[in-house]
Amino acid sequence: MIILENISLKPYNTFGIQAEARVFAEMHTLQDIQTFLNTAKYKGRQKLILGGGSNILFTKDFEGVVMKINTKGILKIKETEQHVWINTQAGVVWDDFVIYCLENNYGGIENLALIPGNVGACPIQNIGAYGVEVKDTIESVEVINMQTLQMFELHNNECDFGYRNSIFKHELKDKVIIISVNFKLSKKHQLHIEYGAIKEELTEHEIFKPTIRDVANAVSNIRRCKLPDPKDIGNSGSFFKNPSVSEKDFKKLISLFPKIPSYAQTDGTYKIPSGWLIEQCGWKGHREGDAGVHKDQALVLVNHGNATGSEILDLAGKIQKSIIEKFGINLEMEVNVI
Ligand code: EPU
Repeated sequence: MIILENISLKPYNTFGIQAEARVFAEMHTLQDIQTFLNTAKYKGRQKLILGGGSNILFTKDFEGVVMKINTKGILKIKETEQHVWINTQAGVVWDDFVIYCLENNYGGIENLALIPGNVGACPIQNIGAYGVEVKDTIESVEVINMQTLQMFELHNNECDFGYRNSIFKHELKDKVIIISVNFKLSKKHQLHIEYGAIKEELTEHEIFKPTIRDVANAVSNIRRCKLPDPKDIGNSGSFFKNPSVSEKDFKKLISLFPKIPSYAQTDGTYKIPSGWLIEQCGWKGHREGDAGVHKDQALVLVNHGNATGSEILDLAGKIQKSIIEKFGINLEMEVNVI
């Protein structure tokens, strides 16, 4: 295990924000994690668990210890004719896992191709895209208690999964480290291609009987067109969640803004795309210094080079204020602000 002091976190967050960690330790095995948690020197110190750094905004240096989880390994546990059970270590890059599944013809996460981040982070915010959420394939999550070092497993129904939400953002926040995730994937596939652009993309390529790889390719093409690559411009994907409004509020909104896009939810509420709200307030492509709103997707805030986390946060605050003033809607941030 490598332990370093006063390390720049710039290479470790996809926003590309400059901030320092007083202590930075990279964990390659479960034993590394246990040994580090047990080291007296680090026991009382605040800890930040870092995966791919794709959903984090640093607004200041981190005075505690950063534990970068780099454990690797994908293990087939069992299979039947219909399904396969796979245990994947937290430090595996999410898209590497998607590729592994495509290569082995295991279905269920093909719509989640090209999402940045690591496997250990996927249950925390229940990553989702193009009509699929990762909770649909998670059987259980293995964690270690940071205080007691006790390991335990949470089954899917104990994870309180919701839209970009889970128990790991609430009751278990800062209490456990996710060690690995157990997935249940399909060998007889049920494709989800209803989500508008996927069908169009497949039709355009004259694919009428798609495989899971075709679906993943279609999703990747759409994402590459719509979402900026952190390698080219710092960002952390959707900066805000899409808000839900009550039926009563939605009726009021649609009478004022007849073109407002919406998705009716099973609980009677309506989900509104934040990107549309932000664009309507004139923010798309807006830039303040090096902090900006992406020119093609208003839901994504970007770092044009040397923005600070506070500058990005200031811009986010202005956006939130304008959305409240125009639509009466409170936009919640999806990104973790440190
Ligand atoms: N829209 C605009 N202007 C914009 C962006 C979007 O008007 O600048 C409107 C369009 O009308 C579009 C609608 O918003 O039809 C929805 O846009 P899109 O299908 O791109 O999805 P999204 O709501 O912007 C969500 C997820 C994404 C995920 C896509 C596809 C959230 C917060 N974001 O975005 O997730 O890839 O759906 O399923 O739910 C992420 O979490 O980092 C992420 C990228």
